[in-house]
Amino acid sequence: MRKTQKSKGAPKKRLGIRGKVSAHPYKSDRKKFSSGRKAKLGTCSVVSSGRMNRNHYMSVTGLEFSYGEVQVLHGLEFELPAQSVCCVMGRNGVGKTTFLRNIVGLEKPSAGSVLIGGTEFLGLDASDRAVRGIGYVPQGRQIFPLLTVEENLSVGLEAAPPDQRQIPTAVYDTFPVLYDMRKRRGGDLSGGQQQQLAIGRALTTRPKLLVLDEPTEGIQSNVITMIGEIIRNLVAQEGMTILLVEQYLDFVRSYGDSFAVMSRGQFVVSGRVEDLDSNTVHKHLSV
Ligand SMILES: Nc1ncnc2c1ncn2[C@@H]1O[C@H](COP(=O)(O)OP(=O)(O)O)[C@@H](O)[C@H]1O
Ligand SMILES: [Mg+2]
Repeated sequence: MRKTQKSKGAPKKRLGIRGKVSAHPYKSDRKKFSSGRKAKLGTCSVVSSGRMNRNHYMSVTGLEFSYGEVQVLHGLEFELPAQSVCCVMGRNGVGKTTFLRNIVGLEKPSAGSVLIGGTEFLGLDASDRAVRGIGYVPQGRQIFPLLTVEENLSVGLEAAPPDQRQIPTAVYDTFPVLYDMRKRRGGDLSGGQQQQLAIGRALTTRPKLLVLDEPTEGIQSNVITMIGEIIRNLVAQEGMTILLVEQYLDFVRSYGDSFAVMSRGQFVVSGRVEDLDSNTVHKHLSV
């Protein structure tokens, strides 16, 4: 395992993950937002120190997972700095979604440890993990098309104690469109609005760790910018820790603090996003 080296003087090309100029409509607009300053909190190191670092929100060691006979995660080692945005990258099918599902408790690993704040989370199911502060925005959003926006948000609260099952006003403050459309069915929303709904649903339980799987997939550039800014605000203002899978380098570079690249069920390289150079991209991410 190695850290990336800083490539001094290298031209800052905007690369899509396939190693060419990104066809993605998103262009960084981040400088406009003062609250979006990046924290200086280290990287999501792929090499575990073997003990809980107090700056690490989560430490994963030796995580193994198989779908039936097919092993997908091969002894993952991963450390996530607190109050920062870590972006997991990698080609299709390497195990990124499977990794996130193991973190949020939707899959059970066959071996390993997931320490969060010094507590072992492996024995907890997904709803227990939600109660203990993990919010999850799945790939493809997975909202309920026939339920109203309000009902979709309430689904996120089912794991919460009965006296805390009100949709927090902060969710509507963050996503005003969800308030305007609260009586509409989820399936009637645009893709960008559905992604806001999926994030809003994850925020109803006021998580400490927000896990997002490809939040920009199929989303228009203005909504992508908004999502990026909201993520930065959640870190800066709520002290949240963000773990996201992301395919687009522009987004990672604009809103991430650190990155970790997965290949064939293992993390192979990590570092600060400013050190994510084109060599790393071509070696591990280009097809
Ligand atoms: N429910 C499942 N049953 C069997 N195999 C699966 C299942 N989900 C994913 N896989 C396989 O596991 C591997 C990793 O998938 P996934 O974690 O979705 O990758 P990524 O998110 O990096 O694209 C792939 O080979 C995929 O085909
Ligand atoms: Mg995936």
